[in-house]
Amino acid sequence: MSEATTTAPADEARSVALLERLVESATQAMELAGVHIGLKLGLYRALADQPATSTALAEQLDLDERYVREWLEHQAVAGVLDVDADPGGPSDRVFSLPNAHRRVLAERDDSYYLAPLGQLVVGALAPIDQLLDAFRTGAGVPYPDYGHDTRQGIACMNRPMFINELGTNWLPLVTDVHERLTSGPARVADIGCGSGWSSISIAKAYPQATVHGFDADHRSVEGARQNAVAEGVSDRVHFFHVDASSQLPDEEYDLVTIFEAIHDMAQPVPALRAARALAGGNAVIVADERVAEEFVAPGDITERLMYGFSVLHCLPVGREDEHSAATGTVMRPSTLRAYATEAGFSDVEILPIENDFWRFYRLVS
Ligand SMILES: C[S@@+](CC[C@H](N)C(=O)[O-])C[C@H]1O[C@@H](n2cnc3c(N)ncnc32)[C@H](O)[C@@H]1O
Repeated sequence: MSEATTTAPADEARSVALLERLVESATQAMELAGVHIGLKLGLYRALADQPATSTALAEQLDLDERYVREWLEHQAVAGVLDVDADPGGPSDRVFSLPNAHRRVLAERDDSYYLAPLGQLVVGALAPIDQLLDAFRTGAGVPYPDYGHDTRQGIACMNRPMFINELGTNWLPLVTDVHERLTSGPARVADIGCGSGWSSISIAKAYPQATVHGFDADHRSVEGARQNAVAEGVSDRVHFFHVDASSQLPDEEYDLVTIFEAIHDMAQPVPALRAARALAGGNAVIVADERVAEEFVAPGDITERLMYGFSVLHCLPVGREDEHSAATGTVMRPSTLRAYATEAGFSDVEILPIENDFWRFYRLVS
């Protein structure tokens, strides 16, 4: 004889809430994938220039009209695109990118530009089978295995901050560093520089500076070199393919920066020790995720976003070495302090630089 199972009303409500949330999450995940499609195929850029029907847009970009029409309709029902209020048949509808959405989706220099977030999330999912194996074995997933979209997604998401704020807002707030960089020739080391936009932005803001960018990912270094040439600073900005924990040069710099890279490093303490040696008593500035001081669950949107990136990408890339620190994206200030102390720094100051996603630290020798 089976007993009827009863669910308490509060539990029932909680089940329903989760169920609804998952449906909402699936909807939003696919809308983000739609943003990725719009970015990669140039659909937003074309619509930023002029409203279009599916036929005109497909012809302009040499794409299949039926796919383009479905994407346009998806974007319109999601409220990302506007659609002509008085359409004829489906192929006559005119779709447009609202002005307020242009800067988010089509203006790559704008500080609101966030289309690459779709690219980054899609890229982070690319090696999902390797990640599932890694859960079983404890191995890492190498950074290069995340491919072009992850690399490009990170670079293009961070780029607007670097080109708009690094040299004109962030560094000027660190007055002694700013004075040093403006008062004469100066040398800057940018560790974990990725595609080089931080190094390039420093060079542009400080015309007397020479910047050396270091990164362990050779495709990022190649891309960074191309970016420096395109931006006309390759005479003062040089990139090197090195592992920061063991291969940094024996040279001295007026400033050492590390943007959003410590938490990805398998060996952050040796890298910080090397950064301290490069700085020789000068400033070491680290920017990393502005996560909460302590673990709190449920967490806010920043914690949720950062844990998402951590599970899918940062923790697995940071576990490449057998004895890695296994930091993950959620590197709390206390963790960085512990790493810095072990690397020989005497103090870690939090710099008064406003940013929604990053916290800025100055490591004191
Ligand atoms: C999240 S990305 C940030 C890139 C860049 N700083 C930016 O803000 O766009 C982290 C970077 O750290 C680099 N990285 C990770 N471990 C490294 C190591 N041991 N030595 C040098 N670079 C490393 C990765 O290759 C990657 O380019």
